[in-house]
Order: sequence, then C-alpha cells, then structure tokens
Amino acid sequence: MKEFIDEKRIKQRVSELAREIYAAYQGMPLTCVVILKGGFVFASDLIRALDMHDMEVEFVRISSYKGRESSGSVEILPVDADKFKNRHILIIEDIVDTGLTMASFINILKKSDPVSIKICAFLEKRQINNGRIKVNFLGFEAPSKFIVGYGLDYDEKYRNLPSLYVLESD
Ligand code: IMP
Ligand code: MG
Repeated sequence: MKEFIDEKRIKQRVSELAREIYAAYQGMPLTCVVILKGGFVFASDLIRALDMHDMEVEFVRISSYKGRESSGSVEILPVDADKFKNRHILIIEDIVDTGLTMASFINILKKSDPVSIKICAFLEKRQINNGRIKVNFLGFEAPSKFIVGYGLDYDEKYRNLPSLYVLESD
C-alpha cells in the first residue's frame, strides 16, 4: 500500500470543510445524513468540528461494492422520510466514484420533501464521476484507483487506518 494523504493533512482539511459548512448553514435546521459504512470515520471528525445548535445526525446503510468493483446495483435500507421534512440535508459520504450510489439516494431523499439537499464527500474520483454528481463540499480529489483507510475498505478491511492509501496492485 502506498500512502496517499496522511493523517495531519486529513485533519487540516476536515477543519477547513467544517468552516465552509458552518458558513453555509449557520442558523439553519441541518440534518447530516451519514452513509454507512464508509462515511462513519469522516463524519465523526466532521460533526465534532461543527459547532451548530440545530443539527441532527442520521445514518443510512447503502452498499454497491463487491471487492474492488462497483456492482452496478445499489442497495439502500429504508429511511424514515418524516425526519427530513423542512430540514436542510447534508449527505456525508466517504467517496463519490461512479456517482451511482449518490444518484439513487438523492432520488429517495427528494420524496421526503427537504428544504435542500447537498453533498459533502471526503473524496471524489472526478475522472470517473465526470460531472454526473455535483459534490458541494469536497475534501480531496482522488485518482481513479482503489483507496483505503479513514473509513474506506477493501472487503471490509482497512477502515481503521488513520491515513489514506492507494492499494499497491492498483
Ligand atoms: P459509486 O456508487 O460508484 O459512486 O460508489 C460509491 C461507493 O463505493 C462509496 O460509498 C464507497 O463505499 C465505494 N467505493 C468507491 N470507490 C472506492 C474506493 O476507491 N475505495 C473504497 N471504497 C470505494
Ligand atoms: Mg460507502
């Protein structure tokens, strides 16, 4: 495995993102919706850097990957739509790759009548997403390679690594 971004730089970037998000939502009813499993490490750092009063945190479990390949179909466990009514939604995700996961989830969220829906992704494979999904708050651009660490897994392993790595054989 080759290091891609170290812990110190991650910390720095998370603080910057929190400032951007605070500036965009201060005084508004905000619900952060964390996409599990990958988003949990990033989200836990990010929400603790956000000093906001009317902020709620929800979780949704979505999976599309089998090993290193996107399976092409997205599995989303049901969410309670009432929770999002009249609130601004900020989706917190580890990485936007093809954008398929995000596109499916946004379609579901729209039905629950939120005030707004925006995306905060720690990483974006911009070459692959290719403009399909607009990431409103982005940590870093990622190469079109397989990344692990800081919540991102390869077959459920490596989520616990505090830095980001590119898998060696990629
Ligand atoms: P998408 O639907 O193709 O955008 O894929 C998004 C999901 O696939 C993310 O939520 C990740 O869980 C997973 N994923 C995509 N690329 C990577 C990667 O490089 N490493 C680990 N997981 C990834
Ligand atoms: Mg994920």
